Amino acid sequence: MSENVTQVMMDEHQLILRMITLVEQNSARVRNNDFSDWAFFIDAVDFIRNYADRYHHAKEEDVLFVELVKNGMPEKSSPIEAMLMEHDQGRALVKGMESAALTLQAGEPGGEKELVENAEAYAALLRGHIQKEDTILYPLSERVLPGGVRGRMLRAYEEADRRMADAEPRYRTMVERYEAV
Ligand SMILES: [Fe+2]
Ligand SMILES: [Fe+2]
Repeated sequence: MSENVTQVMMDEHQLILRMITLVEQNSARVRNNDFSDWAFFIDAVDFIRNYADRYHHAKEEDVLFVELVKNGMPEKSSPIEAMLMEHDQGRALVKGMESAALTLQAGEPGGEKELVENAEAYAALLRGHIQKEDTILYPLSERVLPGGVRGRMLRAYEEADRRMADAEPRYRTMVERYEAV
């Protein structure tokens, strides 16, 4: 039985989905003029940039996708190209979220529409993205990656975790704090 190299990523998806749920709930409240804690959206941007992107997507882009290509998955017109494109689309939407949230936090009116449009688009994109990885790309990875590469993949994940050792507890605490509100 070869080592599983995607369970850790699926576990990270669970925390990302919890933040996405908060983003959706608070965006709906902004639409109803019932929420103005702009710091939440600044924190959500921090979570997405550092936990979802730097911590989680880095493992995909620097380890998992690289091994898939080495083991025969094409780079172009492939699931990998589609996933990378979605990572980039997410980064653009997060920029939009951030600039609107900073404008609102500075007390300038009128950023609500830009904020919720970017936030809702990001949430929808990432939900679909995670769904595709959990149900298609990761199971496919478990089928095609040979046992011999898995040890070094797990070591590379651990190395990435060591470089951001505080990310898991820090962002888990952030999610729990907002869930408790
Ligand atoms: Fe991804
Ligand atoms: Fe992912």
